[in-house]
Amino acid sequence: MSRTHCIAILAGDGIGPEVMTQTLRVLDAVEASHGFTTERSERLVGGAAIDDGGHPLPPATVEACEKSDAILFGSVGGPKWESLPPDIQPERGALLPLRKRFGLFANLRPGVCLPSLTHASPVKGELIPNGFDVLCVRELTGGVYFGTPKGREERDGETVAFDTMVYKKSEIERILRVAFTAAMGRGKKLVSVDKANVLASSVLWRETALEIANEFPEVELSHLYVDNAAMQLVRRPDSFDVLVTENLFGDILSDEMAMISGSLGMLPSASLGAKKEGTDLYFGMYEPSGGSAPDIAGQGVANPIAQILSASMMLRYSLGESEAADAIDAAVAKTIDDGFRTGDIATGDPSETRVGTEAMAGAVIA
Ligand code: NAI
Ligand code: MG
Repeated sequence: MSRTHCIAILAGDGIGPEVMTQTLRVLDAVEASHGFTTERSERLVGGAAIDDGGHPLPPATVEACEKSDAILFGSVGGPKWESLPPDIQPERGALLPLRKRFGLFANLRPGVCLPSLTHASPVKGELIPNGFDVLCVRELTGGVYFGTPKGREERDGETVAFDTMVYKKSEIERILRVAFTAAMGRGKKLVSVDKANVLASSVLWRETALEIANEFPEVELSHLYVDNAAMQLVRRPDSFDVLVTENLFGDILSDEMAMISGSLGMLPSASLGAKKEGTDLYFGMYEPSGGSAPDIAGQGVANPIAQILSASMMLRYSLGESEAADAIDAAVAKTIDDGFRTGDIATGDPSETRVGTEAMAGAVIA
């Protein structure tokens, strides 16, 4: 009997629908070749949902997500909806509530620069002759962004403002288990990034990392202070495999890493919530690292690879179809090696084949 998975498809607005349509063709192809099926609930979100019924996250969309094993998300946002009240704007009214509703505490962002695209990286080519492939695991629902007390007051005749970096041990344990598990499926090297020489929350983070390491004896764990990590990412980017860190450090380091890898149109992301009982799989939401790219929407030129690789991450982390995920990753790498280029990654070299969104997906499928 064939394996069946339920997924919610939220294409959104901007380039979302174009890249999603092509990604679903890629999914059709791996389903056929790997013997499983997906039951897809396609629902409106963001600007598309506002245009339809006035709200960026309609109840029917949330309901479809609740019944699914994972959410494949396109992108939302654009000038058309910018003047709406904040709570019904595409991003604040849909993305953030979805993260909250599903307790998506782990943000996974692969920074990948394929060897043939190193020209797009600002890091000198000789530093990454074989490309670059790092997975950043960022804690998403704790730390200084959410800690209390937080505020501003008058003290001794002067205004002071304060934030609190707070972590529960259980929050650190669950994010570290995500990172160790991810490392097991990759190069088995994990760097935990903290500031344990200064911050109490980082001391607890480091102690907890050492404890959780006992559950994963095959993974080689090391530690870096965050300032040093920022430096090493530029100095020797290819020495990293998986990097795990708390919310604020991860916000900054993941953007640094995305920049080193070159093009936004190539980078997927995953936000993981609760683990499914008795498995190594998570409920998750998967989306490109970039936004809705209103400047190129509707032209059929957007790079669909970030969305296609987001589907691959969904297969790996939520559906347990890691062979199909491997097949997609390999097909994308071959497509790039074969010289297929959308506008965002083209150099104009005569060996390249310039393609649009549909033809790029076609090459991946082929
Ligand atoms: P953006 O990521 O949409 O675009 C930045 C630049 O990258 C643009 O020149 C765009 O054409 C290019 N780009 C992005 N994805 C591409 C792709 N797949 N292929 C080729 N080129 C690509 O960021 P921007 O312009 O700051 O934001 C545009 C809208 O998207 C805003 O409304 C913003 O709020 C929203 N946004 C939504 C996100 C989401 O849905 N998760 C995340 C980030 C921004
Ligand atoms: Mg950021």
